[in-house]
Amino acid sequence: MQLKGAVAIVTGGGTGIGRAVSVRLAQAGARAVYVNYSRSGEDAEATARELIDLGCEGVTHRCDVAVDAECREMVAAATKRFGRLDVLVNNAGTTHHIPHRELESLTDQVWEDIISVNLRGAFHCSRAAGPELKKARGAIINVASIAAWRASGSSIVYGVSKAGLVQLTRNLAIALAPEVRVNSVSPGLVATRWFRQKYGDEAADAQEQFMAQHTPLGEVATPDHVAQAVLGLLGMDLVTGENLIVDGGVHIAYGPAAPQRKVD
Ligand SMILES: NC(=O)c1ccc[n+]([C@@H]2O[C@H](COP(=O)([O-])OP(=O)(O)OC[C@H]3O[C@@H](n4cnc5c(N)ncnc54)[C@H](OP(=O)(O)O)[C@@H]3O)[C@@H](O)[C@H]2O)c1
Repeated sequence: MQLKGAVAIVTGGGTGIGRAVSVRLAQAGARAVYVNYSRSGEDAEATARELIDLGCEGVTHRCDVAVDAECREMVAAATKRFGRLDVLVNNAGTTHHIPHRELESLTDQVWEDIISVNLRGAFHCSRAAGPELKKARGAIINVASIAAWRASGSSIVYGVSKAGLVQLTRNLAIALAPEVRVNSVSPGLVATRWFRQKYGDEAADAQEQFMAQHTPLGEVATPDHVAQAVLGLLGMDLVTGENLIVDGGVHIAYGPAAPQRKVD
């Protein structure tokens, strides 16, 4: 698809991976990007300013993707303002960090918190955007996780939500065909605030260094590596219902891999 002149919504677009995707869309010539946030208004404003500097209309929009009515309002606001919608990137995500063995900690509230954003939130936005995306012959990208494919990640519920998101991707690819393509990316560890905010800089640095040593390509993904994959899938006109893992090759090895590369 042609991104020049496109109008996009990126959920969680003000920080981390969402910010990098928004910037790449602007660099590709998008006319406007709706930078969605639920709490991080200042980050969203900063990202919108970056987009404006790139010649793209960066518009911030507060919306909790867990609330269907707010998602519908966001899509309506974007299409009213710009007359079309070409791209939806369902990037907003949340988690609770709970060791896998602590089953009693996986309360109904934990399930609700995670599923309502990571899975139902993506559905809310996709359902609301579907008719406008169809008119524009647009595309959806869902940001899943390696936790969809491996029993790993911040909690069991997080992994289940992302596995659900991959399956939602396939089903929406059928539901919205032939006009709209729907694909997902599954990043491994990405150097963002995600883990750093919870465990601090020292733990995050140690984790990133360890992962880099055990990654065939020798480095941990940056948000921009994930954005490259998102833009790549947006450009593939006959690919739908697919997932692209972005982890430097970690998942292709079976069993505990020996360190691939020494990282200073
Ligand atoms: N970092 C990793 O290692 C990694 C690996 C695999 C997959 N991912 C996925 O990548 C995506 C982005 O994560 P990130 O690493 O870039 O971390 P991040 O910067 O913390 O991004 C999460 C984004 O989701 C938004 N968000 C959370 N709840 C929301 C809600 N209810 N409504 C709207 N927006 C909401 C946040 O905005 P507010 O602060 O405004 O709520 C934030 O912008 C997530 O889906 C995550 O699961 C990350």
